[in-house]
Amino acid sequence: MSDRYRLTTVERVREAGSWLFTIRDRYDAREEAILVPCDAGVGAWVNRCTHQPQRLDTGRGATIRDGEIVCPRHGSTFDACSGACDHGEAAGTRLRPIEVTVDDGVVYLTDDDVQYLSDGGLSAGNDGDDGDDDDGDSESDDDGGPSSTSHISF
Ligand code: FES
Repeated sequence: MSDRYRLTTVERVREAGSWLFTIRDRYDAREEAILVPCDAGVGAWVNRCTHQPQRLDTGRGATIRDGEIVCPRHGSTFDACSGACDHGEAAGTRLRPIEVTVDDGVVYLTDDDVQYLSDGGLSAGNDGDDGDDDDGDSESDDDGGPSSTSHISF
């Protein structure tokens, strides 16, 4: 019994170029995902490059060129349908897929491992739980330890 959640329409994804939404993954972490137009209808991917943790759609729409998603950081290109990268730093990798189903022009989230949270990205009004404010990118060397100072005088 797999539930399906109505995300948007294929037409809207084509018009917008890409469509950003937020999910909760199987590890209970919030993730961004994108829908992108492709020959088979739409591709659905976790919104993160495989080379480094770079968002493909930074909130202004992903760059799509000749059916490929272009990473804004180093320019690797990912096939919008297969998620495969054959050019750039991420060559040989594949974007993490999200399972969606298109039915009569409507795109449904049908991935049992993830749960829809909101339209848009993590910073776009997703105020679900905000207990995790630490992005962890600060290299603080807290001096909470007892013996971090020593004064030597002569
Ligand atoms: S972060 Fe995407 S190619 Fe380097």
